[in-house]
Amino acid sequence: MQSTLELKDDTSAHDAPMRSPHDHGLHVAIIMDGNGRWAERRGLPRATGHREGIEAVRRVVEAAPDLGVNALTLFAFSADNWRRPALEVEVLMLLLRTYLRRDLKRLVDNGVRLKVIGRRDRLPHGLAAEIETAEKASALGTRLELNVAIDYSGRDAIANAAAGWLGDNSPPRAAFSRLLAWQGHGTGRDVDLMIRTGGEKRLSDFLLWECAYAELLFSDAMWPDFGAAHLHAALADFHNRERRFGGLSVAPLLAAE
Ligand code: FPP
Repeated sequence: MQSTLELKDDTSAHDAPMRSPHDHGLHVAIIMDGNGRWAERRGLPRATGHREGIEAVRRVVEAAPDLGVNALTLFAFSADNWRRPALEVEVLMLLLRTYLRRDLKRLVDNGVRLKVIGRRDRLPHGLAAEIETAEKASALGTRLELNVAIDYSGRDAIANAAAGWLGDNSPPRAAFSRLLAWQGHGTGRDVDLMIRTGGEKRLSDFLLWECAYAELLFSDAMWPDFGAAHLHAALADFHNRERRFGGLSVAPLLAAE
């Protein structure tokens, strides 16, 4: 566990909020909810909703860099999604595999670095190897870091990282964040904006650590309807918010002087 020792040395950020070190770009995370309802409302099989969901993924990945986003983390399959009917799980896994195969070239050409976070040991045969191939092929991308969460649980991520921490004292926040990423369950940076589509208002065990100071935006749009305009509107809303990270806004400070 040599990396753990290295991680322990960083004590500087112990009490600091985990601001994004990537000031030149935002980290947006999306819970892509509503595929099933989108399809059911049209009398279509849920699988069609998931397939249309891939189109929305393509639109958002393409639009993100031009909107000031340099990291995008998408919740594709949660550790609890294994509870869905076997056929739906099979469809989702097949769609993920197809996405990796069909879109890899486009991702590489567009400077997208793909990373999959979550467990890989329960995935269907061969998928983990395809993920690794796609990650290696896109490793030099610098325009957008695309994290796809598959078999992911925020609670498990935190518990695993805590179990990997061998020190007596609690780890500095920055070090813990890196420990999550090092174990393959973290993005390595805080989320600036968390979007959930589909009208529900909950986090569903997604990026619990990274969202400590995320701005939350809940959209009624079903994921297959989501696109560049929705992302643009979400970011406009984000830029109108004041992020204080537990401190005070500038105005009351000046007023008190
Ligand atoms: C939630 O909708 C969506 C999912 C569980 C799967 C999301 C997956 C994709 C959009 C495709 C793969 C993604 C990538 C990154 C290639 P739901 O089925 O819970 O919808 P409902 O709440 O309307 O039933």
